[in-house]
Amino acid sequence: MYKLDPPSLLFETSRPGRFTAVLPPSDVPDRPLEALIPAKHRAKSSPPLPELGELDVVRHYTNLSTSNMNIDANFYPLGSCTMKYNPKRNERLAALPGMAAQHPYQDESTLQGMLELLYEVQSYLAEIAGLHVVSLQPAAGAQGEQTALLVASAYFKDKGERRTKVLVPDSAHGTNPASAHLAGFEAVTIKSDARGFVDLADFKSKLDDHVAVFMITNPNTVGLFDPQVGEIARLLHERGALLYLDGANMNAILGEVRPGDMGADLMHYNPHKTFSGPHGGGGPGAGPIAVRDFLAPYLPAPIVAKEADGSYRLDGDRPKSIGRVRAYFGNVGVLVRAYCYIRSQGPDGLKAVAQNAVLNANYVMTLVKHKYPVPLGERCMHEFVASARQMARDRGVRAMDVAKRLIDHNVHAPTVYFPLIVPEALMIEPTETESRETLDKFVAILLSIAEDDPQTLHDAPVTTPISRPDEVAAARTPILKWTPTERPGYKVAEPRGDAAAKTLTVPTV
Ligand SMILES: Cc1ncc(COP(=O)(O)O)c(C=O)c1O
Repeated sequence: MYKLDPPSLLFETSRPGRFTAVLPPSDVPDRPLEALIPAKHRAKSSPPLPELGELDVVRHYTNLSTSNMNIDANFYPLGSCTMKYNPKRNERLAALPGMAAQHPYQDESTLQGMLELLYEVQSYLAEIAGLHVVSLQPAAGAQGEQTALLVASAYFKDKGERRTKVLVPDSAHGTNPASAHLAGFEAVTIKSDARGFVDLADFKSKLDDHVAVFMITNPNTVGLFDPQVGEIARLLHERGALLYLDGANMNAILGEVRPGDMGADLMHYNPHKTFSGPHGGGGPGAGPIAVRDFLAPYLPAPIVAKEADGSYRLDGDRPKSIGRVRAYFGNVGVLVRAYCYIRSQGPDGLKAVAQNAVLNANYVMTLVKHKYPVPLGERCMHEFVASARQMARDRGVRAMDVAKRLIDHNVHAPTVYFPLIVPEALMIEPTETESRETLDKFVAILLSIAEDDPQTLHDAPVTTPISRPDEVAAARTPILKWTPTERPGYKVAEPRGDAAAKTLTVPTV
């Protein structure tokens, strides 16, 4: 193990007079600068840009591009926020000029191919959901949640019912209560029972005529399929309320069971976790929603419609619609990838995705749970949540220490401390795309970490430029501006005659 040098900034590797570009002699007559740009618009001095050779620049950016863990280079068992390997083929197809270079203001007659593709994505997502109508507009799972809840709100308003509450299990992703709040509802927490399922008694006690929607994630964030979902749907429907399915974990059930058949009335998909969308770090993503037919009038407009003559058009004539939630047709590039993924997998392939996701998670869980106990569930779905509570009590080693040590083994850390209902949670999702050899290696690493001495774990990671930054300070008070520092071997540059250059740091040699 060795500690890498903190990467230098281009300003620090700069040498006066060094350059890369060699421009050919001008083949047009020279004109003085003064004749081209009036004096009042000209800078008083040249910009303080770093001066570098080509190889320095290439190495700088190549090294930067590999500084982060990434799915192309590292195993990435990040539960809940799944970072799975996506076929490069889909990236290539989405980048084809016919896909990527269309303009949303083109006449519909020139967009027929794209509209057909989007119409088919709508149809596939409706079929996979077991629901009737789909909107492709939302740009992320969280926005899908909020949009679907706005649809529910418009539906109840239209019926003349005033319903103010959305019920959310305590194991839910934080976006669920946030979306409920943003859609104008009060979010009411429902407890989990000792098995990790919805506590039915608590649910029943909070289900009244003010409840609009119950948001269930199934399989839930503990990686368990809640078999009570049918009963929950029945109880809600008896009261005139709706069941929402957070479809973030659809990769565990694709083709095996449909949310609509479980009794869900509306749901969102996370294509970045299910259909090879890029994980955009907050966007650009997609979060399509699917709803039952009686909710369709309230969906965002437009949606893609098919005419009797086989042509396609954008149907914006939806008087009860909640309106647009995203410009144009949503993030089309992500939806093209979803189309390619669904078509290339086919129905059997999608089923195999779910089966392998569940198999891989159970394989890893079975091999590590004697060292990393899994408090909830004998078997898991696509992910499992282990607890480092015993380790913390016995040896002072916490989930965070295990996560940090994994980095030294070139493995991305799992999600830690979520869901909140498991103390010292380590949420592990190997995904369906990993080979058995990779899983075996990961298991061996986890078991070796369980034997590491506590100090090694507290010091980890030791192979990264920075070991344990203050994560709260880094998030709350980020330093986004470079200022000169006195590093060994560097000194603040001699002023170059312009004020900006005084702030540069350059090497002394
Ligand atoms: C269970 C669950 N619900 C909702 C979301 C929110 O989705 P997004 O990150 O696309 O906004 C996530 C995050 O991935 C999730 O894991």
